[in-house]
Amino acid sequence: MTYARDAWYVAGWSHELEPQTPFAITILDERIVLWRTPTGALHALEDRCVHRLAPLSLGRCEGEALRCGYHGLLFDGSGKCIAIPGQETIPPQARVRRYPAIERHSWIWVWMGDPAGADEDLVPPAVGLDDPDYILGHGHLDYAAQARLICDNLLDFSHLTFVHAQSFGAGSEFADTPARITPLPRGIRYERWIENSLGSSSRVSATPMDSYMAYDFLVPGVLLMKGGTFAPGTAAHCGYGAPDYAGATGGVTFTSQAVTPMTGDTARYFFSWGPHRAHGDAALRDTLMDIAGRAFAEDKTMIEAQQRVIAATPDPAVMPTVHDKAVILYNRLVERLARQPQPA
Ligand code: FES
Ligand SMILES: [Fe+2]
Repeated sequence: MTYARDAWYVAGWSHELEPQTPFAITILDERIVLWRTPTGALHALEDRCVHRLAPLSLGRCEGEALRCGYHGLLFDGSGKCIAIPGQETIPPQARVRRYPAIERHSWIWVWMGDPAGADEDLVPPAVGLDDPDYILGHGHLDYAAQARLICDNLLDFSHLTFVHAQSFGAGSEFADTPARITPLPRGIRYERWIENSLGSSSRVSATPMDSYMAYDFLVPGVLLMKGGTFAPGTAAHCGYGAPDYAGATGGVTFTSQAVTPMTGDTARYFFSWGPHRAHGDAALRDTLMDIAGRAFAEDKTMIEAQQRVIAATPDPAVMPTVHDKAVILYNRLVERLARQPQPA
């Protein structure tokens, strides 16, 4: 797998981490156990006991520590073994790997690179479920496909015209003209205006409007998208750049999405979506989540089928089109970051 290790990966929704209950997730083929202590600290350790390799996630939380459920070795949040039942001395090698972990924007993030490089400023600025401006629904999907294919899908919205003609009601414009793509230090920015349109199933207007959508797709696979509708002429008026959302006529929504590679051919896809408070309510959020549920199932069907073809193809090669600019720029960035040396 070519993935950047020096990045924060989404391990789960914050609210899904029950207090004092170990939570297991595999990221980049590494088994990780997370738990929250009574004082609110969040810990992430290698989910493999140093004694006989049982998963620590089958153990139990004891105060700030985690006890292996097999023969009872006790580990602190740094991964150090602090007690061995019936044994006085604790050998120095009695420790498991610690991963930096933080909670932000309703997600639990785990840093997969050298802990010394874990920079909290690199957490992508997702919009959390408690954000006062948005009314968000959320969910996740497990994929029998490599994360890279899901990222490629999210980097090339020309598929909307074909995969999401029903669910999103996407028109031909997504495939007919390339979007504006700009490189960012940790990803790419996608921007598109659609002029004089009645909108799609998620944003219908009675009269033709200009609609704008823009997202940043950031390492290690986080999509943050905002969109809205504007009076006709707005696109030209702002030179096809970003509009002022204070002038939006409606349909302002935000979605945060994250792709986490679990193993070489499985991934977990986290998402939230909903309207800005000034442009919708809980009922609209539910409508949007219903549309997203259908659309994300359409993607999953296509991507898992694509994965099966790739797996059965010796030396699979791709042939990029004009719509692959973001795919190419982003994957180049990931390859560059993946080459950064890691401590042994
Ligand atoms: S495997 Fe964990 S204590 Fe034996
Ligand atoms: Fe899609």
